[in-house]
Amino acid sequence: MDLGLKEKSVVITGGGSNIGRALVLGFAAEGARITIGDIDETQAGKVAELARAAGAADVQVVRTDVTQLDQAKALMDAAVSRYGAIDALVNNVGWDQLMFFMQTTPDFWEKIIRINFHGVLNCTHAALEKMIPAGSGSIVSISSDASRQGEAKEAVYGGMKAAVNSFMKTIAKENGRYGIRCNCVCPGVTIPETEEEVGKGSMWAKPLFTPDQLEKVAASLPLKKVGRPRDIANSVVFLSSPLAAGHVTGQVLSVSGGYSMIG
Ligand SMILES: NC(=O)c1ccc[n+]([C@@H]2O[C@H](COP(=O)([O-])OP(=O)(O)OC[C@H]3O[C@@H](n4cnc5c(N)ncnc54)[C@H](O)[C@@H]3O)[C@@H](O)[C@H]2O)c1
Repeated sequence: MDLGLKEKSVVITGGGSNIGRALVLGFAAEGARITIGDIDETQAGKVAELARAAGAADVQVVRTDVTQLDQAKALMDAAVSRYGAIDALVNNVGWDQLMFFMQTTPDFWEKIIRINFHGVLNCTHAALEKMIPAGSGSIVSISSDASRQGEAKEAVYGGMKAAVNSFMKTIAKENGRYGIRCNCVCPGVTIPETEEEVGKGSMWAKPLFTPDQLEKVAASLPLKKVGRPRDIANSVVFLSSPLAAGHVTGQVLSVSGGYSMIG
């Protein structure tokens, strides 16, 4: 099926590692023109090379810290300056460390809030400044199933991802009139397949789970397997497609092997 993404301008934050890397390669396979905004320019550069080989019409890397509004604006400016528009934004950057709430400190809360929530606010605001006058666009934010039913050791992260879900629904309501669609994808545990898939800025740079823990997670899921980055990328490409998902907005989609089932 033609997804209508050929030569479209797509901005992907955190495109250097794991899910972001798969997102870049997924949009590359559709022939998109891709702007990667990542704090780790070296790792993003490696992914850009792979994306060119995978069929991207063009790729640029812009070193970006999404917690800084001026850098989010510079990222969107770079996309418009090189490709003329922003047809789709994927807010993919996120960060967590697994700890019980009572083991965490206000500095940790602040970091989680800034990366997982302020990053989405900054990039969404900066992208809408371009999309509203253009009268079209898609924004997908990568949330988490931790936002939907609570998860031990992810209290502040899950809270911020729930904030992202709610924020995106409001943005969908406010901006549908401009032809802009806004949705969320909630991964469950989604692990890289090889070491090359993670850079030093990735939370997977040190393993988050032991093999034994991963086996237990897989066994607990209806589909009996943990997620792979391409599982998430395929869903995001679908939601970003004006042809496949042109009438879909304000939705929160779990891609988690059945971990959450929300009616
Ligand atoms: N992997 C999972 O199991 C899982 C589960 C649920 C939700 N998620 C969500 O999916 C998204 C991607 O997760 P992942 O596992 O691929 O993450 P990751 O840590 O492997 O990769 C994150 C990428 O973002 C970049 N980055 C980090 N901070 C940044 C900043 N301030 N500005 C710009 N770039 C920054 C890193 O360099 C890296 O390339 C996140 O939003 C995460 O919360 C992941």
